[in-house]
Amino acid sequence: MKQYSKRTSILHWLIFLLVVAAFFLGHYLADLENTPEKLSLLPVHFLIGDTILVLTLLRIYFRKKDGEPAPANANPLLNKIAAATHSLLNLSLIAAAIAGIATVATSGVIEVLKKGDPSLLPDFEKVGAREVHEIFIGVMLLLLVFHVVAALYHQFIVRDNLMHRIRIKRFKE
Ligand code: HEM
Ligand code: HEM
Repeated sequence: MKQYSKRTSILHWLIFLLVVAAFFLGHYLADLENTPEKLSLLPVHFLIGDTILVLTLLRIYFRKKDGEPAPANANPLLNKIAAATHSLLNLSLIAAAIAGIATVATSGVIEVLKKGDPSLLPDFEKVGAREVHEIFIGVMLLLLVFHVVAALYHQFIVRDNLMHRIRIKRFKE
């Protein structure tokens, strides 16, 4: 096996796109006044975030079930660092999503969405879980930078075509 399975690879890139969308939408929402636009965009952010959580759990399951390619590095320490980064990336995403759900649950925003009155929207800055949401997103971003730098290092300096392993397109074994 030289590549992650097709469904694992599809989920990897789909989750990446959804994380980019959730990130920019989250920041956009945080800067918005309590307007009807915010009222209609908040559920979109919640839906994207919940989808990320479900798809991440599904990808972890598929990776276990379908197996994974042999470690990419000759150096065992680098392989351990890669495996730990992947686990921490998954964990930080799951934790960020759960903290987002906790922010919703403890802010009373669902009631406001039902009433449809933007002036009643809570100040999320005052919700404790929202800070945890931000911290885990920060942790995930740091890991992501490291993950991408490692991928580029493999691709362009080691030149071992690491990107093949997670490409949706299949290659002959
Ligand atoms: C794991 C994927 C997610 C990412 C990458 C993400 C990203 C973000 C970002 C960047 C912010 C702005 C934080 C800031 O002001 O610095 C934010 C705010 C927020 N997120 Fe998420 N989020 C995710 C999942 C969720 C989920 C699953 C929920 C709830 C169902 C949620 C609920 C919220 C809420 C309530 C806010 C505050 C909005 C405001 O201040 O107006 N997020 N998110
Ligand atoms: C939110 C964004 C991302 C997350 C959470 C993430 C997470 C992961 C995880 C957990 C794996 C292990 C395989 C798996 O379980 O599916 C993986 C593999 C991989 N990712 Fe990402 N990734 C992200 C974005 C990216 C980006 C932007 C790139 C490219 C520049 C990239 C390149 C790779 C490569 C090359 C592998 C295979 C590494 C190996 O086989 O050792 N990832 N990623």
